[in-house]
This record gives sequence, C-alpha cells and structure tokens, in this order.
Amino acid sequence: MMTTSSPGKIILFGEHAVVYDKLGIACSIDKRCNVKFSPSDKGFVLINSKNLNISRSLKEKELFDLYKEINVLIKEKNFDKIKEIYKNNELIPSFFVLSSIFQKYGFKGLDIEINSQVPKNLGSSSSVFSAISLGALNYLTKDFSKKDISDFAYNGDVIAHGGTPSGIDNNAVTFGGYVKYKKSEGVKPLTIDFEIPLLIVDSDKKVKTSEMVSFVRKQREENPQFVNSVLNSLDNISKKALDVLISRNLDDLGVLMTQYYKELKKLDISIPELDKIAEIALENNALGVKPTGAWGGGCCLILTKDKENILNLKNVFSNNGFKSFQAKIGVKGVEII
Ligand code: PMV
Repeated sequence: MMTTSSPGKIILFGEHAVVYDKLGIACSIDKRCNVKFSPSDKGFVLINSKNLNISRSLKEKELFDLYKEINVLIKEKNFDKIKEIYKNNELIPSFFVLSSIFQKYGFKGLDIEINSQVPKNLGSSSSVFSAISLGALNYLTKDFSKKDISDFAYNGDVIAHGGTPSGIDNNAVTFGGYVKYKKSEGVKPLTIDFEIPLLIVDSDKKVKTSEMVSFVRKQREENPQFVNSVLNSLDNISKKALDVLISRNLDDLGVLMTQYYKELKKLDISIPELDKIAEIALENNALGVKPTGAWGGGCCLILTKDKENILNLKNVFSNNGFKSFQAKIGVKGVEII
C-alpha cells in the first residue's frame, strides 16, 4: 500500500491568459489531496472518490481503448465530445492519466482511493491527477522526474479543462512552492521568502473550468482583435506583478491584482457574487482583490494590509454570507507520505 499527497493551488496572476502562452504565476496551498493505492491482480483499476461519492472500475482493455479514443478526439480538436465524455463520468480524467502511464510502462491492477481537502476551483482536479500520477509511476518505474509526474497529470486537465489546458495547474501542484509558467517556456520555480497576507473568499458558486475556457476560446474566435488586446494587457499586468513580488511591494501587488480583475472582467466571465466580494474587499481597506482560476464562480483572492484588516474582512464577509479562509501558501508539491 502507498499514499501520495498533493497540494491545491491558487493562480495569483495569469488565469485564462496563460492558455494563450502569456505569463502565469501560481503557488501551492496547504489544502491537500491524499490518494491511497493498493496493488491488485484483478485485471482492472478501481477508483473510489470519497469527495465525488462515486466508485468506478475500468478493465485493462477499456483503459487502453479510452487512451486511444481521447487521443483521437484531441487530434481532431473535438472539444465538445471531450466535454460530453467528462460530463457523463467525472472520473474519466483520472482514468485517462492512468491509461497514458500504462501505455508507456504497461498495465497494473490498482485499487485507488481519493480523499481530498482541496476546495473546488483551487486546483482540486489537478491535485488528484498529480497524486495519481506519482502513485502509478512509482509502482511501474523508478526512473521518473517531477516533470514526468506533471506531464502525465496534464492529461487529466486536457479533459477537465475541455481540451486546451495551459499546464499551469499540474505544474503548480506537482512542483509546489511558487512558480512562474509560460506554455512555450515551461515552469520555473520562484523564490518568494515572505508571507503574502491573502484571504481567500468563496463565492459558493460551482463552476466547470472547461465551460469557462471554452467561453473565452469562442469569444477569441469571434472577436480576435479585442480578446487579444485584453490578453496582452493581462500579460503586462502579470509581468509587472512578477517584479513587484520579487521586490516585496505589497501595495503595488494589490493594485495589480485589482487591475487584473478589471481587465479580465471585460471578457464577461465574472458573476455578481465575485463582483460583490471585490466591492466589499475594496470598501474595507483591502490592498487588492481578484478572482482566481476559471472565474464564473469559485474563489477570490484578497490581499490584506495586516492581521487587523484580515479579522475585519472575515467579519464583514461572514455578515454578507460569504465564507473566507486563510491558507498557508507555497507549501511542498506532490509527495509520497
Ligand atoms: O479552474 P482552475 O483553478 O483549474 O484554473 C483554471 C485556469 C485557466 O487559466 C482558466 C485554465 C488553464 O488551463 O490555465
């Protein structure tokens, strides 16, 4: 038996833009997903997800057929069909991660149990894929790197993100700490050795990343000039944020977060709850605010001034019906525990 553990993640800057080869900055958070593996000789893989409250098994042949089927759809860019398959079976991305590992190293029967504390929309799916990838690789080969774990985990996001993930999520949860990421350049760890006083506020609205990514993709197809200009502005904000993070200037960081929020909001992916959270934050002396991840729901990041500001904001959010929490950020990436 073996258990792997992967952190959740937050995207500090760059969501959506990072899909189009712009800069992204992300970090891990101390809400983790644990995956327990027991080898079996039953000729199938059984996945039991406590969070999704489902249990499914796929036989060796079914796994290899799935591998082929999804790869054909990816080649054909048949994203609607990929979304449909995912809609009918939420464990399909996890099986696809496993099938791509088996394709390279051979099949192994496994009983897998997923138990995650990662909130939805904070890397909850990527943390599962990374933890599964590490566990399966560890059973099948001793010769693999963090990049291999991340690359196999990426396959899960291909389905969960509706065909075109940027790759920032799988890298953030696999490598842990703080990372900068660009599709064409890959992941680079960042040394951020000070505490960023973030408060995370949940809109309590669930969202499917695949829907939001497709929504932006369609807008870009219909109106490339406008969407590309927004993406370029977002890229400039993220580049400035990188300098500001390295020089530890929290005031400027807050301003850039709010700028990112206002710029990306132009693509019509915010919702009243996220806007309300932003309004409350700014009215109550936060240094900056932005949603994180896919938007359309999920969580907002709030950069606070100090402990007093955090306490006050927590109260105000609670009075307005929003749950908020602090998380330790920049923690260890995926590991065997
Ligand atoms: O919804 P999340 O937390 O998995 O974040 C998605 C981030 C996007 O930029 C919207 C998509 C991507 O693949 O980077």
